[in-house]
Amino acid sequence: MITPKHFLQFKDLNADEIAYLFERTRWIKDRFQRYERHWPLADRTLVMIFEKASTRTRLSFEAGMQQLGGSAIYLNTRDTQLGRGEPVEDAAQVISRMCDVVMIRTFEQEIIERFARNSRVPVINGLTNEYHPCQILADIYTFVEQRGPIRGKTVAWIGDSNNVCNTWLQAAEILDFNVHVSTPPGYEVEAERAGLYGTDHFEHFTDPMEAARDAHIVTTDVWTSMGFEAENEARCRDFQDWQVDSDMMRVARPDALFMHCLPAHRGEEVTAEVIDGPQSAVWEEAANRMHTQKALLEYLLLGRVE
Ligand code: CP
Ligand code: NVA
Repeated sequence: MITPKHFLQFKDLNADEIAYLFERTRWIKDRFQRYERHWPLADRTLVMIFEKASTRTRLSFEAGMQQLGGSAIYLNTRDTQLGRGEPVEDAAQVISRMCDVVMIRTFEQEIIERFARNSRVPVINGLTNEYHPCQILADIYTFVEQRGPIRGKTVAWIGDSNNVCNTWLQAAEILDFNVHVSTPPGYEVEAERAGLYGTDHFEHFTDPMEAARDAHIVTTDVWTSMGFEAENEARCRDFQDWQVDSDMMRVARPDALFMHCLPAHRGEEVTAEVIDGPQSAVWEEAANRMHTQKALLEYLLLGRVE
């Protein structure tokens, strides 16, 4: 069996591949906006396995796959044998014999790694406790589209050092930009869990305002990620001072973008004024999930097409 190419974490792609994907994304998005058919994945099937809730990830993969001429099948833990203890390795053996590509949203990264090791087809990470690589692909594409190259720029991450934060940190190593992270004490980045190669592109700030100073992107995420609900009360207390508000946006660069993977909680990690304000790129970020993932699906299944 030839080992398929997976996208399990951001570092599964190198800078050259990301540049190619962004070029394809531009082309694919442009055709979509002109209502021009692009069906390179006709007769191909994507299986999507969800162990956690989703709006954007499900919709962007499902619509995206259909727009590429293929079809998408939604499975969740509740009504498959995975929810009744079928080993993930067995599920991978079977599922990957009936489709061309698999997307999984699950808990520990180890689960998706085990699935991928037993899969005959490419596996894409649609979010794990540790990473959310498809999100950062879309976020960086959005920045490049609106502001130009990300190399040498500064991203301020305010809040929890979660899956989205870890993925920004990995991307910074690959694409050579900097991430200024500010978390409350006790919620700091764990370098090993983030899968960091080194620390050259990452700086920790105790003061969130200092992290945001002169940043090109200010970004945050929910205080309590899926799977951590039991900690919600303590987190709401601990994260009070890690809210992105207009004072924080004012210390960033005047042309800084505000980003959030969504769903957001106005009044917690971000004020309504910021997320609904002129610097917010959140809707375009969400829309670009679909366009970047279409380029990714095409690449994982067909390789470089031009
Ligand atoms: N940002 C994101 O992945 O959203 P969903 O949880 O709605 O898929
Ligand atoms: N960090 C959030 C992202 C949701 C898209 C979570 O894991 O719940």
